[in-house]
Amino acid sequence: MELKDAILERKSIRGYLDKPVPKEVLEDVLRLGTRAVSALNSQPWEFIVLTGDIMKKIGADNADCYVTGVPEDISDPPLDGIYRRRMIDIAKQLFAEMDIARENTEKREWWTQRGFRFFDAPAVILVMTDDSLEDAPTNFDLGAVVQNITLAAMEYGLGTCVEQQAVNYLRGIRKYLDIPEGKRFVVGIAIGYEDPDFPANRVVSQRADLADNTTWYGFE
Ligand SMILES: Cc1cc2nc3c(=O)[nH]c(=O)nc-3n(C[C@H](O)[C@H](O)[C@H](O)COP(=O)(O)O)c2cc1C
Repeated sequence: MELKDAILERKSIRGYLDKPVPKEVLEDVLRLGTRAVSALNSQPWEFIVLTGDIMKKIGADNADCYVTGVPEDISDPPLDGIYRRRMIDIAKQLFAEMDIARENTEKREWWTQRGFRFFDAPAVILVMTDDSLEDAPTNFDLGAVVQNITLAAMEYGLGTCVEQQAVNYLRGIRKYLDIPEGKRFVVGIAIGYEDPDFPANRVVSQRADLADNTTWYGFE
């Protein structure tokens, strides 16, 4: 796949076929992904890859935490201004495609719970790092590796959705997995073969024009 095509065609996939992803393919994706840049080549990423029953149990536990009002272990920071507007815009696009009306709380709850169940993908990559590392350079490096993984996945015909929801609750993760002390969860990446009929997968998110975020000097 051409790099430019992968960059242009990548989008968050929130509906997957019920088709397992071979471990070897996920290994290839992670090997390619971890060619990412990192500060001082520190490679501050660690991955836990889940599939099958254990993934379902953790997804169900996440959804249960949400439904029963367990406080989140990790929360999305609040957004203001243009950043909040963009968040609202993407939510509107998703709800429109999914035919979820604003007042339909039942369907909204269903949608949110799907997110906590990793969008019912066949696999999820949980990304964590070491607590001893400084947040700023580490978060930069983690962003780079996550983007690389989403692009590498496309070479294997796989879709992805980076999701904070995957690690908002850590109860199930701690219950079913053996997590050493001193680790910090960052994000999850749902991964699998795209369901071409799932409406939310039609959403193409907007981007600001370069004129809104780029300043040029010395070009004329
Ligand atoms: C750090 C991070 C956390 C995200 N968390 C979620 C999430 O919890 N649920 C979700 O549906 N999408 C989540 N997304 C996906 C974004 O909504 C998506 O990348 C953005 O709207 C742009 O759309 P695109 O990926 O289709 O280009 C997350 C993306 C990032 C980078």
